[in-house]
Amino acid sequence: MSQHILTVDNLTTRFATPDGEVEAVNAVSFHIDPGETLGVVGESGSGKTQIFMSVMGLLSKNGKASGSVRYKDAEILNLAPAKLNKIRGVTMSMIFQDPMTSLNPFLKISKQMTEVLVEHRGYSEEKALKHAVNMLDRVGIPGAAQRVHMYPHEFSGGMRQRVMIAMALLCDPEVLIADEPTTALDVTVQAQILDLLRDLKKDFNTAIVMITHDLGVVAGLCDRVMVMYGGRVVETGNVRDIFYDSHHPYTEGLLKSMPRIDRAHEQKMYAIPGQPPNLQNLPSGCAYQERCDYVQNRCTQSRPVLYDIAQGRASACFREVGE
Ligand SMILES: Nc1ncnc2c1ncn2[C@@H]1O[C@H](COP(=O)(O)OP(=O)(O)OP(=O)(O)O)[C@@H](O)[C@H]1O
Ligand SMILES: [Mg+2]
Repeated sequence: MSQHILTVDNLTTRFATPDGEVEAVNAVSFHIDPGETLGVVGESGSGKTQIFMSVMGLLSKNGKASGSVRYKDAEILNLAPAKLNKIRGVTMSMIFQDPMTSLNPFLKISKQMTEVLVEHRGYSEEKALKHAVNMLDRVGIPGAAQRVHMYPHEFSGGMRQRVMIAMALLCDPEVLIADEPTTALDVTVQAQILDLLRDLKKDFNTAIVMITHDLGVVAGLCDRVMVMYGGRVVETGNVRDIFYDSHHPYTEGLLKSMPRIDRAHEQKMYAIPGQPPNLQNLPSGCAYQERCDYVQNRCTQSRPVLYDIAQGRASACFREVGE
């Protein structure tokens, strides 16, 4: 029996499009333990969201996932919706990048929030409403007792995001997947939400997956980090190792492009040169080859696998294996 609460093995997600197949997620494996926070970083289009859409069984119709996703010991990849609904939003929930993915525009927030509690927790309507209002209050919605009776479009973007966070937390999930949960929020609210996530981790041992562009958020919240490039994991390790001893050239580039107070005097911010790879036409060899300062012949001929550097620490670069 595994200790892990979520185990993903060899997850591969493809989208069929008129222009050919998009290789969005390529042989991704990872796990997460109770109470642990895993940061998932990588630039736009690197496959971060689609990994977790696959995990949650929420891929769009043209998408297909293969491999294995286990919740504790149960296989859940491509499970029938009726079975998945017992887990989804209950023991495992997701805060989506786009709030309207999880909010129904035609239903009042009260209805959307109480339904799941009545159905999965057996709460009375009254108790469910009280719980929903408490949760809205906790995520910083002023006048929650009145606002709970409003429709999603009556909330501002930032408020909608908070409503969605409250919804994701309603059933005290064991795993919370947070996809860029704070990008649309102003800085003080961002800090409140991050504090809330930290409390959850401490008080309820909630396992959190934090998908983010913000390495500051990773440093402040995460235990381990998974760096994605071109739909693959290119480096993993605990947060200290990633920041102080990064191995993959892409991770190095990411860290270099992070705004830092001690470099504020420098005129120009660093940006990794070049463009992300085209997932419809990935190069043979390493997907990062065209942007890499250390590229060698062999990087163009074959693709480096994830080489173990130490326990729980790996990098997909030929530099790990030497000449
Ligand atoms: N329904 C779809 N059909 C075709 N391609 C898709 C579909 N959904 C996603 N993709 C592609 O899958 C790739 C990975 O997308 P994903 O949303 O996981 O990126 P991401 O890392 O979350 O990016 P961002 O940081 O911008 O949110 C992208 O190239 C995207 O265009
Ligand atoms: Mg995304």
